[in-house]
Amino acid sequence: MIKVKNRKLLLLPGDGIGPEVVREVRKIIEWFNKNKSLDFKIEEGLVGGASYDKHKNPITDEVFYKALESEAVILGAVGGPKYDNLEFSKRPERALLKLRKELKLFANLRPAICFKQLVEASSLKPEIISGLDIMIVRELTGGIYFGEPRGIEPIENNERKGVNTHTYTTNEIQRVARVAFDLAKKRKNKVTSCEKSNVMEAGILWREEVQALKDKEYQKIELSHMLADNCAMQLLRDPKQFDVIVTDNLFGDILSDEAAMLTGSLGLLPSASLGAKDKNGKIRSMYEPVHGSAPDIAGKNIANPIATILSLSMALKYSLDLDKEAEQLDKAVQSVLDDGLRTKDIMSKNMKEISTSVMGDAIIAKLK
Ligand code: IPM
Ligand code: MG
Repeated sequence: MIKVKNRKLLLLPGDGIGPEVVREVRKIIEWFNKNKSLDFKIEEGLVGGASYDKHKNPITDEVFYKALESEAVILGAVGGPKYDNLEFSKRPERALLKLRKELKLFANLRPAICFKQLVEASSLKPEIISGLDIMIVRELTGGIYFGEPRGIEPIENNERKGVNTHTYTTNEIQRVARVAFDLAKKRKNKVTSCEKSNVMEAGILWREEVQALKDKEYQKIELSHMLADNCAMQLLRDPKQFDVIVTDNLFGDILSDEAAMLTGSLGLLPSASLGAKDKNGKIRSMYEPVHGSAPDIAGKNIANPIATILSLSMALKYSLDLDKEAEQLDKAVQSVLDDGLRTKDIMSKNMKEISTSVMGDAIIAKLK
């Protein structure tokens, strides 16, 4: 068997349940290394609160450069109540934002899929939710998350003023819209672009630039524009009207949480953050579960590793050109769910409750 040599993957377990769920991913990569023609070199690094505890810094240069050098980064989660009072620049979230910004990961893909085995876990009626498959494309390196000026400053009368700035340029809008259009071509050809063009100039620009790109290069796509608040409402009323949603950083943060939760499958949803192609056709990328660090259940071996495992599957597909392996992994996950195995978060009547590590083992058993 010819092995694909020396491909580097960086695992950043992070905080809370991050280390437990990333451990299961590591087991799966090691299985692929042993049983397939793959030879991934796995590196690990500290990030978020875990890095702060050791280095007083949420991400060290050393880890950052490892991220730059690897083909894909898989991150668990960052943050926790222990770090809530740290000064802004030291907070765990800064590590995540630095990785996104400096690796230029401008397109964040967040699928909101309702797994058929979990229809009952949604707070919506089964007929509204079953078969749901939305792809949210969130702009990730611009908008109010990064705009300048920003800060908190004193003003007269002993008051203070908090400032953040929301900006977007033509290029920032069109490159993320392009990702959305290209994805839609492989799906149902429908894109909904969300902004607040009724109150924000940057929203008007967003709408115009997305439309201009469609008119120029994607005539066959069915594009509609929706105000972001209306989108929040429509997601609950009739989520199946959506195929691909493209929106800015802040609206995408909020709408993707809403969409993820309404599937009832929060513990199962992966995400991918992608940059532009370099001259060798390679893209920088980072993969993470949509759920957070869940400090309340950390260290108990009860967290659901599936979202992180499916993040590995997205990495195989989008970064590593291993579509077959991605499909094999997705099928293994489905098959474990079909067998009625459940971690605590998705437990329901007549199912069998298992731990984080047993879930990982069960998925590996299916790969065999
Ligand atoms: C997310 C998270 C992050 C964000 C936090 C942890 C900084 O909510 O990835 O959606 O706001 O982008
Ligand atoms: Mg969020």
